[in-house]
Amino acid sequence: MLKLREKGSFSYLHLMKSNNRRRFLQTFGTGMVGSLALPNLAIRKNDSSPIIDLTSQKTDNSEAYWELVKTQFVFAPELRYFNNASLGASPIYVQRHTQSCRELLDGFPSKYMWGGWKDEKENTRQLVADLLKVSNEEIALIHNTTEGMNLIARSFDLQPGDEVILADHEHTSGRVCWEVFQETKGVKLVRPTLPILPESVEEIVEVYRKAITPKTKIISMCHIVNTNGMILPVKEVSKMAQERGILVAVDGAQSAGMFEIDLHDLGCDFYTASAHKWIFAPKGIGIFYAREESQHYLKPLIVCRGHRDTSIRRLENYNTRNLPELLGLGAAVEFCNQIGIEKIHQRSYELKNYFRSKIAANPALKLKTPAPDDLSAAIQVVEVIGQEVRELKEKLWEEFQIDCRPMSTFGLNAMRISLSIYITKADIDYLVDALISFTK
Ligand SMILES: Cc1ncc(COP(=O)(O)O)c(C=O)c1O
Repeated sequence: MLKLREKGSFSYLHLMKSNNRRRFLQTFGTGMVGSLALPNLAIRKNDSSPIIDLTSQKTDNSEAYWELVKTQFVFAPELRYFNNASLGASPIYVQRHTQSCRELLDGFPSKYMWGGWKDEKENTRQLVADLLKVSNEEIALIHNTTEGMNLIARSFDLQPGDEVILADHEHTSGRVCWEVFQETKGVKLVRPTLPILPESVEEIVEVYRKAITPKTKIISMCHIVNTNGMILPVKEVSKMAQERGILVAVDGAQSAGMFEIDLHDLGCDFYTASAHKWIFAPKGIGIFYAREESQHYLKPLIVCRGHRDTSIRRLENYNTRNLPELLGLGAAVEFCNQIGIEKIHQRSYELKNYFRSKIAANPALKLKTPAPDDLSAAIQVVEVIGQEVRELKEKLWEEFQIDCRPMSTFGLNAMRISLSIYITKADIDYLVDALISFTK
């Protein structure tokens, strides 16, 4: 960690006049605003929160241990944040590291922007590569998943009649780029319908198998869909695609950091993720993976000096860029490593099972995420029978200070609950009690 200078306090409250509250809550109901401006909650300062090195407690899986992990995330007082799938929080270790990088940069801008952090940048690349079990020569450090999906969709010189498979649950960030860059040229976007509650991986593989034709060139798919948290079988689809000479691009926005991932084993050609969700990196930093054999397909979205670089670094060559956030990603992976990705993986499933068992006990609550572990993990959606989900979101916020995301598409009418590592079983008890209070 770099040394941090003392900071004064700052409050967002002056930005928010109380007569704006109603309007804020209405906007907030869309889930897009997140907790940028909290109307009635003070902002907790984290200057005095101690950073705890969790490395020495690798074998501890007690609730007390996870309460300790939670102390490293400084949420606004009273806020119950079940909205990690929209945007993650950075633990204080990451916040302070990033802030100290900003201060160094502002102390000598030209030095740090133009090469002073070369080693640190490469170290971050290596940390990400290790997390995803690939080579550092297969990782580019970009801004977010949206950029990664754009990069892929823009790279290909597809011809009219060629086909790209995009299932119906693809996020707009993985869909619009194909529509704009390929569909307008006459490329056909094939949009198969995924089951909402599949009982097996094979059920989903079959949907992709049926969608493939001799004209299919690319399958673009989420690793976890943002709608109901369903995990898609990337490994099985990649195997099937490879046998037919089809490329597979994966939107990993919701999977990177949630559980163990071995990208070579998954077998996809491309994978991109937003590190500001489940890896807890600073906002606006993303990951791009291209397996070595498939890198030649890719063209940088932005070209400038250095564009002749033949390595994967040519895809992240923006000239001036957000280096403190990029180095903050390194600190974020270090933080995850202190806990251990295997342990985070195990915790994702432990919280899922705890949450599901509590929900299943109540007939007025209906789970709308598939149950098997290979089909879902730390994102679950639940309907409260008789409640319109957008109204419910507002009530959960106003009465319980719970933030989560309402999902209305695909007839879900369900609340999306993110069970990140700062969520404890006591938090789940609180949430479920809150949900139950609206069933009466
Ligand atoms: C599945 C999926 N893909 C892409 C995105 C877009 O992420 P970003 O805005 O970080 O690019 C999201 C955001 O929620 C998502 O859930």
